[in-house]
Amino acid sequence: EQVPVSLKVNGKKYKLNVEPRTTLLDLLRENLHLTGTKKGCDYGQCGACTVHVEGQRVNSCLSFAVMHDGKEITTIEGLSKGDDLHPMQEAFVKHDGFQCGYCTPGQIMSAVACVREGHAGSEAEIREYMSGNICRCGAYTNIVAAIQEVKN
Ligand code: FES
Repeated sequence: EQVPVSLKVNGKKYKLNVEPRTTLLDLLRENLHLTGTKKGCDYGQCGACTVHVEGQRVNSCLSFAVMHDGKEITTIEGLSKGDDLHPMQEAFVKHDGFQCGYCTPGQIMSAVACVREGHAGSEAEIREYMSGNICRCGAYTNIVAAIQEVKN
């Protein structure tokens, strides 16, 4: 049986009916076709599915969509303003903060939260905050450089 859920995603309001066990990740990808948010592991280990809920970062594969009824969600698609990239997106491009790009949306959503929450002090602090976002290509040094540029 389906249950209703209302969400505001990237500034747009949605009312949907979903299975109670639908994850926020599946709702975003399957129902709203916002496929920028990636499914890596689907059990909280890789960070590819990172989005913001009310400005706080969340692994969207780990929570049910209905838990966020009435909440405001931001995905990677909501960061840019028209053709203008978010400063963190610009910094990832400038510093080559990715190779294959699969983990990048999650990395960028975490990186934005890292700076916003004041955890971008030292390189060690950045690496600690970003430790839940795995990059199989090993672009970590460049990701840290991008974050350091934005915090300055
Ligand atoms: Fe959510 Fe890997 S897909 S943490």
